[in-house]
Amino acid sequence: MADRPALLAEPVRELDRRELHASVSDPVMESVTLLTDVMSQYPDAVSFAPGAPHESFFEGVDVARHIESYVAYLCRERGMSPARARRRILQYGSTPGLINELVAGVLRTDEGIDVPPEAVVVTVGCQEAIFIALRALHATPDDVLLVADPCYVGAVGAARLLGLDIRPVEQRPDGSVLPDLVRVCREVRAEGRRPRALYLVPDFSNPSGSRMALPDRHALLAAAAEEDLLVLEDNPYGFTAAPETKLPTLKALDRGGRVVHLGTFAKVCIPGVRVGYAVADQTVRGPDGRTRLLAAELAAVKSMVTVNTSPVGQAVIGGMLVEAGGTLRAMVEEKSAFYRRNLRLLLDALDSAFPEDLRARTGIRWDAPEGGFFLVMTLPFEVDDAVLEESARDFGVLWTPMSHFFVGGKGGARQIRLSLSYLDDDEIEEGVRRLAAFVAART
Ligand SMILES: Cc1ncc(COP(=O)(O)O)c(C=O)c1O
Repeated sequence: MADRPALLAEPVRELDRRELHASVSDPVMESVTLLTDVMSQYPDAVSFAPGAPHESFFEGVDVARHIESYVAYLCRERGMSPARARRRILQYGSTPGLINELVAGVLRTDEGIDVPPEAVVVTVGCQEAIFIALRALHATPDDVLLVADPCYVGAVGAARLLGLDIRPVEQRPDGSVLPDLVRVCREVRAEGRRPRALYLVPDFSNPSGSRMALPDRHALLAAAAEEDLLVLEDNPYGFTAAPETKLPTLKALDRGGRVVHLGTFAKVCIPGVRVGYAVADQTVRGPDGRTRLLAAELAAVKSMVTVNTSPVGQAVIGGMLVEAGGTLRAMVEEKSAFYRRNLRLLLDALDSAFPEDLRARTGIRWDAPEGGFFLVMTLPFEVDDAVLEESARDFGVLWTPMSHFFVGGKGGARQIRLSLSYLDDDEIEEGVRRLAAFVAART
C-alpha cells in the first residue's frame, strides 16, 4: 500500500474546552442538555420536564392553508398579486419583520398594549427577543442585568453568552420582587455601576409558576422609574389565566416607557415556526439629535444574528392571526382552559398520592398556581442531577431540579419543577404515582 501523504497522517488536533468561551461550559447551558440527554436515555419515563405545548393542539394546524390566508391578506390589504405575495414569503425578509402590523393589532385587541407596528420586532422565538434586547441595552461592562430569581434558564444563558454581569433579585412565591429590587439597585450603584434592566416573567413564571399581583405591578413600575431601570417583561404564559382573573401586563400599565415587552406565538399558536416578538416603543436619541425607536436598534442587532425571522414561519403565524380575525381570544380561551384543567388534574393527583398526614410528617408541599405550565414541589430531601437520573432510571419519572434556575446555584435544593403542559391525563396520573414511589423510597 502506498504511503499516505504526511499531512493526512498527522494526529487530529483536539480543542481544549477551556479555550472556548466560558458560557459554553456554564452550568446553565448544561442544564438544558442534561434534561434532553436523560429524556432520550429513558424514553419510557413520564417527563414532567418540558414546558412544551400539548401536541393535540397541532392537529388543527394546516400550514399550507395558513400561508394561503396570509397571501390572501397581502393581496387584499397591500394590493399585491398572489404571485408577488408568494415571492415575498420565499425571499429574504425585512429584518424587523413581515407581520408587525398583525402582531401590533393582536397586542392592542387582546392585551391592551397600544404600540405602532414600527415598535415591534418579529424575532426567532422569544429567545431571540431576549438576546437582542440584552445585547442592545448593555453598553459597557459596568451595566448590570438584574434577573428575578429563580429565573428562566434561557435568559440567564443569553446573558452568559453576552458576558453580562447578572445579579439575582428574589422573586417571592407571590411573584413580588420588591423590596429586594431596590436593595440590589443600590448595591450595584454603590459599586459605581449601573443597574440597567430587570428581566422577569410576571405572569406564571417559568420556573416557579408565581404571578405578580396588580398592586405589585404598579409598585414595580414606580420603583423602575425611581431607580432609572428598564424592565424586560417576558410573557409566554399570561394567556393561561382564566379570563376573569387576567391581569394587565406591565407593558399595558407602563406610562413611563420603562417596559420592553417580549412575547411568543410558541405556546398559543405553534412553537415549530419559531416566531416571537419584542415590543420596544422607547425613543432613542442619536448623537446628531435624531431619534428612532428602540425597536429599530434591536432590529440592527437582529440583522447580525439571524438576518430576519423566517418569512415562511411568519406567514404561518400571520395566516393564523388573519383567520382568527385579528384576535386570539377564542384560541386562548380553549387552550388556557385545557392547561388549567391539566393543572387541576396534577394538583388532584398530588393530593391523593401525598395525603395530608404524610405532608405534615415530612414537609412535602407544593404551590397551587392559578395558571401557567409549571408548579414547584418541595421534597423532604435534597435533589440534584444524580438524584434525577436515579428517579428516571429506577422509577420512570422525570422532573427538573429547581436548583438549575437559581442564579449562582444557591436555592431550591429540595425543590423540583413539575411541568403540566405536555402530558395526557393518564400520564399525569401515572407520573404522580411514580413520583410518590420515588419519594417514598427516599424518605
Ligand atoms: C419564560 C420563557 N421565555 C421564553 C421562552 C422561549 O420562547 P420561544 O420558544 O418563543 O423562544 C420560554 C420557553 O419555554 C420561556 O419559558
